[in-house]
Amino acid sequence: MERAAESPSIIETPDGSRTAFNARFGEAYGSRHGAQTQARHVFVEGTETHRHPAPRVLEIGFGLGVNFRATLADTAARGVPLQYVAYEFDPAPVGWLREVSKNEPGAEHPAWQAALAQWPNGPVEVRAENVHLTVHVADVLNADLPQNWATALYLDGFSPSRNPEVWTPQFVSRLAGTLAPGGILGTYSAAGHVRRSLEAAGLTVERRPGAPGKRECLRAVR
Ligand SMILES: C[S@@+](CC[C@H](N)C(=O)[O-])C[C@H]1O[C@@H](n2cnc3c(N)ncnc32)[C@H](O)[C@@H]1O
Repeated sequence: MERAAESPSIIETPDGSRTAFNARFGEAYGSRHGAQTQARHVFVEGTETHRHPAPRVLEIGFGLGVNFRATLADTAARGVPLQYVAYEFDPAPVGWLREVSKNEPGAEHPAWQAALAQWPNGPVEVRAENVHLTVHVADVLNADLPQNWATALYLDGFSPSRNPEVWTPQFVSRLAGTLAPGGILGTYSAAGHVRRSLEAAGLTVERRPGAPGKRECLRAVR
């Protein structure tokens, strides 16, 4: 396994993938128990994106792009198109995105390489092969979100205790409106108040086994 100690912020996780520590929120971007495994299990599979013939993904927030690469690797392997819109109000250093992605799924795809080349000078807009990626560098709370659009919504803010604004019933109810009928929201949190917010927003909530280190996670269907 490759060592990942170029930056003290980078954390090696048990599945061999990496994440990083965000000092502002005092938390890692991805699971310390397996960042890549969490991305695949909670987000790609949790939203059934791995079976969708033409996924349209909305992500809150883009972070290190681990969820994006996991999705990209999946759609590229299946030969299906991918539209991916993400929000990120505090772009991580490009060196972290590079280091975390080294030798990981999706890293060699031209869409990821183009995203790195643009990062993070303003909004990122990439069209490569059949992938369209937009990363809005903005606070999602003030964003004009797409309506009835997403086949999958990745709700991946920092934890509700540290980043409560993106988990409030009001915001969750706005998020529900971004889903196309049948669209699925996936999140690593299984907190009771998050589940209740999703239900109050009219979504059908299901608890699933969590990724390593977590007993449960949630999926919510419109
Ligand atoms: C848990 S990390 C996301 C990890 C990411 N999905 C990945 O695959 O690497 C949470 C991210 O949400 C961003 N974020 C938190 N609140 C936000 C907000 N109100 N608007 C936009 N981005 C936000 C943070 O800056 C951070 O990058």
